[in-house]
Amino acid sequence: MAGRRDCPEIVRKIPNSQRERYKSLGKLYKERFGSQPAFFARAPGRVNLIGEHIDYCGYSVLPMAIQQDIVMAAGTNPDQMLVFTNSNPEYQEYKSSVGDYKINSSNPLWHNYILCGFRGIVEAECISNPTGMNLVVDGTVPRSAGLSSSSALVCCGSLATMHANQQEIPKKKLADICMRCEQYIGTQGGGMDQSICFLAEAGTAKLIEFNPIRASNVSLPDGTTFVISNSCVELQKAATSHFNIRVVECRLATQILAKSKGLDWKQFKVLGKLQESLGLSFEDMLSFMETTLHHEPYDKKEVCGILGVSEEELIQASLSANTLDVTSFKLHDRAKHVFSEANRVVQFKEICDQGLGDAASVLGGLMNDSHASCRDLYECSCEPLDKLVQICRDSGALGSRLTGAGWGGCTVSMVPSGDVDDFIAKVHAGYYAADPKLEEKAAGSLFATEPGSGACMFEMDAETTV
Ligand code: GLA
Repeated sequence: MAGRRDCPEIVRKIPNSQRERYKSLGKLYKERFGSQPAFFARAPGRVNLIGEHIDYCGYSVLPMAIQQDIVMAAGTNPDQMLVFTNSNPEYQEYKSSVGDYKINSSNPLWHNYILCGFRGIVEAECISNPTGMNLVVDGTVPRSAGLSSSSALVCCGSLATMHANQQEIPKKKLADICMRCEQYIGTQGGGMDQSICFLAEAGTAKLIEFNPIRASNVSLPDGTTFVISNSCVELQKAATSHFNIRVVECRLATQILAKSKGLDWKQFKVLGKLQESLGLSFEDMLSFMETTLHHEPYDKKEVCGILGVSEEELIQASLSANTLDVTSFKLHDRAKHVFSEANRVVQFKEICDQGLGDAASVLGGLMNDSHASCRDLYECSCEPLDKLVQICRDSGALGSRLTGAGWGGCTVSMVPSGDVDDFIAKVHAGYYAADPKLEEKAAGSLFATEPGSGACMFEMDAETTV
């Protein structure tokens, strides 16, 4: 049985370092809604250290929460209205009634992510008459940067909805709800972002496992620091089909591999489950894959022929709304990335657990291999990201790779702690100072980070009341 301690913490005192920020949010809330907020909800962004594009294949990943977060000053209203205001005037206010809202999945605006969280909680908890909710939202997670600003909005929205409706939900269940409800936006991501958002703890990265969601501590080697740098190429995950195409390619690879073993292929959607059923090691999966899938892309006709289905049946069994028109699928390379990346996560965790003297350089090597695999096999990097990764390595990183979905966004680099200032100066000179447009964005784009804490709520305290 889950108890209160499995639920997100309700913190009584806002940390001093955050007080002014929360106070000004409270002030905005009062100006807009005429009263104090009832509470604050907070959800962090994350950086994934290793294990990219494998969570939706059922494999474990290794992220940590970052300090940057979404904070919502929240309260209820008796009018059954949802009113979401943003502290950043660039984002327009959103208003609808609790029973009449629409989640827009093509090019979604900010409030749609909060609506996902709202809908997720209302449906999961069968709340028949949800309360109206006022929110003032403030975010410090760089957007479209692979640091999970979207999931932080979904998770924070779900927390606010939960608390406003006097529900108590354990963290793992919240992660599960949010992982599912973010799919209302249309991206078929896995559960990494939502899981680390709720299960993170300050001072430790986490190995996140799925089915069911579990998190265990990973002690990173002493004397190393992770530094994030944003390529400043914005990734529009929900507005493009790159992401879902990869999901579909992995699914088709799973089904063709399952079929070749004489299994009931429709029962298999993810490579992880297939591996589990076959009871094979990563090495064995890789050689099975090599002998079964060809290097050249598959077209739809060939896939239908192998699986013995019509195009309509294939659409039903394997494709998703924004991948119906895709004609060519690179199954070999995608599957090879997934098995080898999943293997690297296991190795990364083992090396951290062993805590040997040369751990940092071995981990750095795994991060470099991960980037090469994302770039060459999964094709989710881009030129500026590759360039930035190279600059990070030349500036003293022990390892550097893209983090998050890719196609833009950030790199994460492992750097000897004593060299962080020098590293940052060199990356600044090599990447940002070289281009006036990037130089403008350099502040907030290049920073060292430590494993942060997970989502929580804050009570209003006397010092925050305005
Ligand atoms: C996005 C998704 C995650 C994960 C990463 C890639 O952040 O939301 O579930 O798939 O991309 O590793």
